[in-house]
Amino acid sequence: MRVIDENTITDAALEQMSGTPNPRMKQIMASLVRHLHAFTREVDLTPEEWLEGIRFLTAVGQKCTAHRQEFILLSDTLGLSSLVNSLHDKRATESATKSSLLGPFYRQDAPMMKLGDSIISKSQGTEVVFYGRVLDSTGRGIPNALVQIWEPDETGNYDLQKHDPSVMDLRGCFHADFEGRYHFRGLCPLGYMIPMDGPVGDMIRAQKRHGYRPAHIHFVIGAPGYRELVTALYVAGDDHIDSDTVFGVNESLIISVNKNDPASPFPKLPSIRYDFRLAAASKRDTSGRVGADPSQITKHA
Ligand code: BEZ
Ligand code: FE
Repeated sequence: MRVIDENTITDAALEQMSGTPNPRMKQIMASLVRHLHAFTREVDLTPEEWLEGIRFLTAVGQKCTAHRQEFILLSDTLGLSSLVNSLHDKRATESATKSSLLGPFYRQDAPMMKLGDSIISKSQGTEVVFYGRVLDSTGRGIPNALVQIWEPDETGNYDLQKHDPSVMDLRGCFHADFEGRYHFRGLCPLGYMIPMDGPVGDMIRAQKRHGYRPAHIHFVIGAPGYRELVTALYVAGDDHIDSDTVFGVNESLIISVNKNDPASPFPKLPSIRYDFRLAAASKRDTSGRVGADPSQITKHA
């Protein structure tokens, strides 16, 4: 009989899993076990520390609801979501706008609006116009591209975090015009603290991290035949632009607010202009969303 000890356990576990019929699942689980065991040996994990880890993950799961995704928050704050985004971007066969975090506050049923409409229905704050084009990798406009947007209010909260999370605010969907042009009105993006009232917040405090995200607005942009783009735009000059708690900022996604822009579709408002580039879809592409509407995750769990 094989002696199970700290040297033989990894091979023993891998051997038991070796008959996994799905090759990708087999590869992922074998690698997970190898790395998990290596990590455990490296830190010489004690039984109390193991139990603390189990307690922590249990609390993360218990915090999840149809309106709150603590596991996505954990993935985001560990840098895992950002890493998955970078790997996804590298697999694109054409150059495109960089991905950024979907985060835990995306909602798949945001209202359809007309170009130029405002996504503000309940909130107050400085109104700005966002405009630009959705382009392919050669710079041609993508007609009718679907642009989904969401942002937090002036207190740094998304509608999903409010008293009645079924009430929607500061989100909308738009179809770009025949040349890929889009424009809509929203709040000038503000920075905010990630939700700190759960186990992930406890972790952030224990690590003496500030917990802030720099001011940003989220986009999911898609069109048939193109890789869906999940990204966000970040406001230059924000105090936390270089220390985002969830590692979402990329230099190419930093924008400035223009106070005097005669080219804007609403020249009297401050404006933010950005052209997005989508890569053509390839056969290998699956979804580019590192996350989902929290209600869909609990529904299918
Ligand atoms: C967000 O930008 O909505 C977000 C992303 C990750 C964690 C918390 C919030
Ligand atoms: Fe956000």
